[in-house]
Amino acid sequence: MGALPEELGAVMARSDGAPDHSGGRTFWPGRWHGHDFVAVLSRIGKVAAASTAALLIQRHQVDAIVFTGVAGGLGPDVQVGDAVVAEAFLQHDLDASPLFPRHVIPLDNLSRLPTDGGWRQRLQAAVVQAQRQMAQDWPQGWQGIDLRQAKLHQGLILSGDRFVSTRAEQLALRTELPDALAVEMEGAAVAQVCRDHGVPFAAVRLISDRADDAAHPDFLRLVTDLAAPFGAHVMEHLFQAL
Ligand code: ADE
Repeated sequence: MGALPEELGAVMARSDGAPDHSGGRTFWPGRWHGHDFVAVLSRIGKVAAASTAALLIQRHQVDAIVFTGVAGGLGPDVQVGDAVVAEAFLQHDLDASPLFPRHVIPLDNLSRLPTDGGWRQRLQAAVVQAQRQMAQDWPQGWQGIDLRQAKLHQGLILSGDRFVSTRAEQLALRTELPDALAVEMEGAAVAQVCRDHGVPFAAVRLISDRADDAAHPDFLRLVTDLAAPFGAHVMEHLFQAL
């Protein structure tokens, strides 16, 4: 799963089965290194992502969901071009206080949704390989980014229905949730649906911007050129190793 064609286009291109149209989504089936897959665009935001995840699980009985896309970096060490594999997701804009503590999913009584340990490890290994390949393929210093220096982080990713594009909001999130590495708009929703259905979930995000005042132009230049090849390399290595 990915949010935008820019993020998942190269994976969707591997589909060779009949597309399944349902609920405003198109599900693209195929086989990759002997494994069945279904690629689908969640579109943007938590509602769209939750709806897509529920449909994907119910219509296609998938064994696991893997999300690949971009995110804004929050941790001081999380720079444009790095990748973050999610250990857990949290909805930074969920607040049912004073009924429930801030960020807690009402009645589920938890705020952090862990990803699946086994899939996380497999994904991490695939990302290491993808980063190596991207470092070779991309000209050094392209757009001021040296992919040979790109790091791989593992930790908390925040999701919310906001594109974080001011330094003030970036700082507010970092102050409130100091261990958060990155922010995006879908992961926690997919994680919650997967938890409800007992489906393993893992996710990786390439850092496209620093969720600050330059986030908009940074996002646009990176998502167009880097996100799709990154997603395709990651999935190639993931399926190869399964
Ligand atoms: N996805 C990529 N960059 C983002 C940002 N700054 N805020 C929310 N989602 C993002």
